[in-house]
Amino acid sequence: MWLSLAFALFVAPMQAQEEERPYFDQREQALLRLLTKLPQTPPPSPSNRFADDPRAARFGQILFFDPGLSPSGTVSCATCHDPEKGWSDGRPTSLGVSLGRRNAPTLLGAAEQRWFFWDGRADSLWSQALGPVENPVEMAGSRTDMVRYVAETPDLRKAYEELFGAMPEGLDDRKRFPDGARPRPPAPTGMFHDVSDLSMPTEGLPAYKAWASMSAEDQEAINQAFAYCGKAIAAFERKLVIQPAPFDRFAASVLTPGAEGADKDAISIAAQRGLELFMGKASCHNCHFTPLMSDREFHNVGHEVGVDEDFDHGRPDGIQKLRLDPFNGMGPYSDAPDLETNVKLRYLFYDSHTYGAYKTPTLRNLGRTAPYMHDGRFDTIEEVVFFYQQLPGQPPIGHREETLTRPRMTLQERKDLAAFLRTLDSPPLPEELRRAPD
Ligand code: HEC
Ligand code: HEC
Repeated sequence: MWLSLAFALFVAPMQAQEEERPYFDQREQALLRLLTKLPQTPPPSPSNRFADDPRAARFGQILFFDPGLSPSGTVSCATCHDPEKGWSDGRPTSLGVSLGRRNAPTLLGAAEQRWFFWDGRADSLWSQALGPVENPVEMAGSRTDMVRYVAETPDLRKAYEELFGAMPEGLDDRKRFPDGARPRPPAPTGMFHDVSDLSMPTEGLPAYKAWASMSAEDQEAINQAFAYCGKAIAAFERKLVIQPAPFDRFAASVLTPGAEGADKDAISIAAQRGLELFMGKASCHNCHFTPLMSDREFHNVGHEVGVDEDFDHGRPDGIQKLRLDPFNGMGPYSDAPDLETNVKLRYLFYDSHTYGAYKTPTLRNLGRTAPYMHDGRFDTIEEVVFFYQQLPGQPPIGHREETLTRPRMTLQERKDLAAFLRTLDSPPLPEELRRAPD
């Protein structure tokens, strides 16, 4: 009797589930092919000739974990991109020297991106890395202080000079290289930004005045050394490659059964149904495709913004800043400033449709990178799924994209979709990448 009871309770329901295993037809298989097969080497980065230099990666790894890069000595890149928190920080918006307004994205697979930051204001990983150093809410430092810190720290100086040659001369002369000196960053204002407004180097903080007081050669020397440090950090970040997740092992079982690692039981049946929804009724794949589960472009999903809240424009600001950034791919610090390499920079335009658009984030490792969205407004994957079903309210400017269709989903279907999204967590990277090198 016990045996038959055990059968009724456990074995029979399992068999019933077995029968419901979804079948992936040709259309779905074609879509599945777009989502899996993670590249294990990132695409080339022609603007950074040190991108794949192991010595640069090692130097970059030291810088990444070094809080000395911030004048307070308390904030490193790893503060907000913590390897133990999916290379993010677990907070709605980041806390550096003070509280920021945006959520820290994971760095896993970042080298696969075309644009960096939620608004895409950097076009390379190396130029991205320069932003946080001077961001007043992140490290609140300056390029001059950072270069001086490298020059005055014997191990860093040695590593730097082996790679990039001599550091700028005369850094201990505070008159020539004033503390905190940095140029005024381009700051778009208003709805239709006036470009002439953006380059007034002496206006504002003493730090900008200090920078303006420096000779053009000294400014240039600091910029060059700053760019080299960014290139080293990028070389390290290129090693943060996404490892295959249970989803990929399942996808292999559908696409190439019998291949190494292929496993039709790698994800639950509920997650398999969720995958069908993702590529079917819920149309998530319209924007979340490629093995990163991101089209690497910008969209307005139409978040509501409270009346007292300051509206974050997103993409248009990013375009303005990128165009004016001397560290962009066509600038003087790029190792491949030609037009052909930088063709993506030619197609930057913004209009009212780009207001409120942010970069489609990767869905890889979602289980470790809560909270979600550019402002960390959702705590759980379930809340995100519910949002896409409801699409409440309207964005304050611009409009929500029409490809978002408010799919009708039952509670069970929402659970299935969330279960699928949880199968995208990869095993952690080797321990030697998750800390400062020996
Ligand atoms: C105070 C927290 C904080 C610190 C410190 C910090 N970051 Fe970030 N990082 C963020 C936030 C927040 C964003 C998104 C900001 C935005 O879009 O405006 C971000 C974005 C990024 C991105 C873009 C990822 C993508 O997919 O677009 C990369 C790469 C990155 N940071 C690397 C670094 C590096 C390298 C350092 C150290 C030099 C660093 N971060 C320091 C919080 C931080
Ligand atoms: C029109 C393009 C588009 C479609 C379709 C779309 N997304 Fe998104 N998704 C985005 C963009 C853009 C963001 C970032 C928006 C923001 O931060 O304001 C995002 C953010 C997310 C996030 C947050 C990730 C993070 O790390 O913060 C999740 C999870 C997500 N989408 C899941 C889904 C699911 C599930 C579906 C299908 C129901 C879907 N998306 C459909 C474009 C899209």
